Order: sequence, then C-alpha cells, then structure tokens
Amino acid sequence: MALRIRRLRPSDYDELMRLFEACGLDPRMRGRDSRSSIAHQLRVNRDSYLGALDGRRLVGAVLGTDDSRKGWINRLAVHPDYRRRGIAKRLVRAVERALRAKGIEMFAALIEPGNDASVSVFRSLGYEILPMAYARKKRNEGV
Ligand SMILES: CC(C)(COP(=O)(O)OP(=O)(O)OC[C@H]1O[C@@H](n2cnc3c(N)ncnc32)[C@H](O)[C@@H]1OP(=O)(O)O)[C@@H](O)C(=O)NCCC(=O)NCCS
Repeated sequence: MALRIRRLRPSDYDELMRLFEACGLDPRMRGRDSRSSIAHQLRVNRDSYLGALDGRRLVGAVLGTDDSRKGWINRLAVHPDYRRRGIAKRLVRAVERALRAKGIEMFAALIEPGNDASVSVFRSLGYEILPMAYARKKRNEGV
C-alpha cells in the first residue's frame, strides 16, 4: 500500500468529518469541528494537522496542536478498513516531528477509559500511560 502522509487542507473537510464519524469520534460540527473552525485551526496548525492518504482517499488523520508548553495529539483516527497496518504510528511520529520543529519537546494525548487500541498505540511509541482525572468546562454543549 503506497500510503502518503500530508498536511490537511480545507478541501479535505467533508472527508475528514466522514472519517471521524466512521471512527466513532462524534465530530462537533456545530462547534470545534465546524467548517469555519477547522479552517481557522488549519491556519494556526498548518504543519501538524495531517492526513494519511491511500491514493486520493483519506484513511487516517491526526490533529496536532501546541499550547507552547506541550504538544497535544488530538483526534487520531484510522478508518476501520485500514487498521493494524501501522498507520496510527506513522501519523503520531509525523505529528511529533512537526511539533518538534516548533520547539515542542513533550507530547500528550487524552484517551477515554476503555480505549485499549489507543492506549496500545501510544504505549508502543514510548508514551507513559498515567491515570488522570480530566477537568473541563464548556461554555455551551455544542462547542
Ligand atoms: C486507535 C487507532 C487510531 C489505531 O489505529 P491503527 O492504525 O490501527 O494503529 P497501528 O496499526 O498504528 O497500531 C500500532 C500498534 O498499536 C497496538 N494496537 C493498535 N490497535 C490495537 C487494538 N485494537 N488492540 C490492541 N492493540 C492495538 C498494536 O500494538 C499495534 O501494533 P501491531 O499491529 O504491530 O500489533 C484506531 O483504532 C482508531 O481510529 N480508533 C478509533 C478512534 C480513536 O479511538 N482514536 C484515538 C483517540 S485518543
């Protein structure tokens, strides 16, 4: 399989949302996953919002952000037809490289309880898995 990793573009939006849905990631299309929000995020994170393509088909994605203290690996997703071929590992390595180029030296991801596949991916890449409580506040439900 000639798989290629490249930056995501605004024109990938519809396929990206379909990919998130196929991966059970419940995109917030009225909130942070809206077309305009993703377009803005792509401008800010242009080197670290990445897609994996099989030909022209988007089969994987990862959204890498940085808060200037650490890098965050968000929305790692690989289409069910393409799993267990090392695509998630390639995407995480690529996003780490992009974030390192911005001076980031620590990487983190939030993983929901019971997501053993995701835990395994990160563990296989040398991440420590720490039990944490996650505090969050939303200004409205759609965000
Ligand atoms: C998690 C996810 C991205 C993994 O994608 P993937 O491309 O299949 O992962 P990889 O092939 O790179 O897996 C690398 C290693 O992780 C481990 N792993 C991956 N999926 C696993 C699973 N379902 N069960 C156990 N171990 C798994 C294995 O050690 C694997 O190496 P191996 O195949 O040589 O044994 C994919 O299952 C997915 O999209 N899940 C739904 C969305 C999601 O939960 N995203 C994470 C949000 S934090």
